Amino acid sequence: MKSSPFFAIALTITGVGMAAAQVASAQPRPENASPIYGVTLPEGYRDWKFIAPAQEAPPLDELRAVLANDVAVEAYKEGVLPFPDGSVLVKLAYKRQQSTEFPPATVPGAPTTVQVMVKDSKKFPDSHGWGFGRFVNGKPVDVAQHETCLACHVGNVKDHDYVFTRYAH
Ligand code: HEC
Repeated sequence: MKSSPFFAIALTITGVGMAAAQVASAQPRPENASPIYGVTLPEGYRDWKFIAPAQEAPPLDELRAVLANDVAVEAYKEGVLPFPDGSVLVKLAYKRQQSTEFPPATVPGAPTTVQVMVKDSKKFPDSHGWGFGRFVNGKPVDVAQHETCLACHVGNVKDHDYVFTRYAH
């Protein structure tokens, strides 16, 4: 079939319509930002200060470390709650692995996830001021996983500003 001019115009209009819809749906989320919250991996987080370790039983079977930026570290040390805007907490997780060099020791195996909580009461009024992000290989995971964050943190630690980790002295 020879494509009619009308058909070509219709296609063009559809294309413009779709582009407009993308712009209208409030800035498309950058691919490195978490769904729902738009949280990204903070720059330099691997060098942040250590708050506490954690361990999760199988099947996840992970070793974890929670790190924080200076604003959050200060709040921890001063015992300030709720955490002030600008606080960022990062949880690193690794498969638990038996040391091959010294079998009684447990060491971090492959990294699994990096999880982030950012305090910004203006940006995240619907989630008690916290934005959440979960990353695997540096990429945010799907919406469904991000839908779980708030419920568990609210359900268990609402009296500690929705943060589980306490400072390990
Ligand atoms: C079923 C419960 C549960 C869910 C769901 C959950 N968390 Fe957590 N989270 C925890 C627990 C428990 C800790 C304490 C550290 C640990 O045991 O690993 C924690 C710790 C954290 C921390 C360190 C600060 C703190 O609160 O201690 C961050 C950051 C974090 N979670 C982010 C997330 C993100 C992002 C999601 C969603 C993608 C999420 N969490 C979903 C239970 C949960």
